[in-house]
Amino acid sequence: MPVVTCIDDLRSMAKKRVARAVFEYVDCGSYAESTLRANRSDLDALALRQRVGIDVEHRSLRTTMAGHEVRMPVALAPVGLTGLNWADGEMLAARAAERFGVPFTLSTMSICSIEDVASVVKKPFWFQLYVMRDRGFSASLVERAKAAGCSALMLTLDLQIQGQRHRDLKNGLAVPPRLTAGTFFDVLRKPGWVLNVLTGRHKSFGNLEGQIPDAKSLTTLAHWIAGQFDPTLSWKDIEWVKKLWGGKLILKGILDVDDAKIAAQSGVDAIVVSNHGGRQLDGTISSIRALPEIADALGSSLELWFDGGIRSGQDVLRALALGARGTLIGRAFAYGLGAMGEAGVTRSLEIIEKELDVTMALCGLRDVKEANRSILRPA
Ligand code: GLV
Repeated sequence: MPVVTCIDDLRSMAKKRVARAVFEYVDCGSYAESTLRANRSDLDALALRQRVGIDVEHRSLRTTMAGHEVRMPVALAPVGLTGLNWADGEMLAARAAERFGVPFTLSTMSICSIEDVASVVKKPFWFQLYVMRDRGFSASLVERAKAAGCSALMLTLDLQIQGQRHRDLKNGLAVPPRLTAGTFFDVLRKPGWVLNVLTGRHKSFGNLEGQIPDAKSLTTLAHWIAGQFDPTLSWKDIEWVKKLWGGKLILKGILDVDDAKIAAQSGVDAIVVSNHGGRQLDGTISSIRALPEIADALGSSLELWFDGGIRSGQDVLRALALGARGTLIGRAFAYGLGAMGEAGVTRSLEIIEKELDVTMALCGLRDVKEANRSILRPA
């Protein structure tokens, strides 16, 4: 077993173990991937200020996200097809997150169902909603999330139409996974993945099986999304979702300050500044570039969260410095899951926690809640 010191080690291990089509679904972005790259490079370009001569013996990473106590300001983002990286992956990731003390968000497009995840955790998890053309079905998902005790609903706004991911098309990514001439030699070299995924309770969309025609049959993901997701989704639907859900509501996928202002007026609990991990509008700005402008416009009127390119505790701290109260990690935990299952998710959280703790201290900070722009060098 290699010595795992950083998220990139988990990525390398996942790349070796997981079928290429699934690994690349997680890893890649849309079109030319310029936004995917900008998410990372703009984070890297933000220089932290090294401060010395400050007593940093007692430190705290604890805070709250949408009223939930968290061990550090990081939650697991909704990631579609998580359970194809490792059998029953959503159940394992939810359990790892619960044991660690951070929230887990289940994707609508998960392999394990809402009920499967509820059966393995004691504390509430969060549910991410895609609004489907069949509004009755969307409403039933919300009801199921309520019945499962989910404590927040995260509504994704930036995927009512899917951006093209070249790799998914080239790989013929289908759900359930299918064997093609192109994938045959790849999976021959990954017997561990094949045998493991075969033991999973589902191989298709666990929340949708039996509910939506085609959800169980062999179909390419892009084709299926185009048929099911509702492109008419608009701001007036937020009211509908709010009424239906009646609990904590988080809007994910806001990158523009004008949209952030509308979101703030809609009375939600938090928004996530996000470009869907560079998987949707290619050519738009990085999430981290969007963050300070949105933070300035909104002040403290609602909680501001961030995702897009986080691979380290340093990245978490950069986002906090620019105004985020909390962050979401997607690929970072999915690599851990693909590499080592539940232990890999735990490892990804431990890595980020340790990095955040040490980095904060070297910036002269004792409490993560006090991070602000003063810990960054001016551009
Ligand atoms: C879905 O959320 C995706 O990014 O594929």
